[in-house]
Amino acid sequence: MPKVTLIYGSPSKKSTSAKILTYLDNRLKEAGVDTRWISVRDFPAEDLLHANFESAEIRQSVNWIEESDAVVIATPVYKASYTGLLKSYLDLLPQTALASKAVLPIAVGGSPAHLLVIDYALKPILYALGARAICGGVYGLDSQVTSHADESVSFEESFQRRLDSSVDEVLDLVQNKVTQTI
Ligand SMILES: Cc1cc2nc3c(=O)[nH]c(=O)nc-3n(C[C@H](O)[C@H](O)[C@H](O)COP(=O)(O)O)c2cc1C
Repeated sequence: MPKVTLIYGSPSKKSTSAKILTYLDNRLKEAGVDTRWISVRDFPAEDLLHANFESAEIRQSVNWIEESDAVVIATPVYKASYTGLLKSYLDLLPQTALASKAVLPIAVGGSPAHLLVIDYALKPILYALGARAICGGVYGLDSQVTSHADESVSFEESFQRRLDSSVDEVLDLVQNKVTQTI
């Protein structure tokens, strides 16, 4: 059974990016994937602030990434980039933590103005961490995600299509054991 780790990079507990990541998680599970979440906001704050490479929680998460065939990484856009919280975690990963893994970047913003954040901010750090099979990625807007009274979530149609395609892309890379596309 393929393994996929989902890295959640928002400081908020209930957020648009969590809703998107949950949707992707469910789609992956339906396809028979074993998934695990790394929620950066749940690490001890001191470990992140003081760059504690010895942190048991951080080490555990590194093991999960090592065991994974793919990683989905989701972040809100903060000041035209990924969150500082996510950066504080990525700084603690080994230099080649993402080598030999398919990686799907997801970013969500309040405006289309930062559409390129995946290409100019997220992909370079994924590459620096050894990723060579980086999917195109999906940029979404708050306005494309609707929460309903019964706690269900729906997505604007074209956005949902892009999410579904991104899941297919990850599954294709994982099932064909593709570790380099760039
Ligand atoms: C501190 C902060 C900075 C933000 N900066 C941007 C930005 O530069 N560009 C943008 O499109 N949205 C920006 N936003 C809006 C968020 O990216 C957007 O609302 C996102 O959906 C929040 O994600 P979350 O609900 O998953 O935490 C910012 C929000 C906050 C709280």
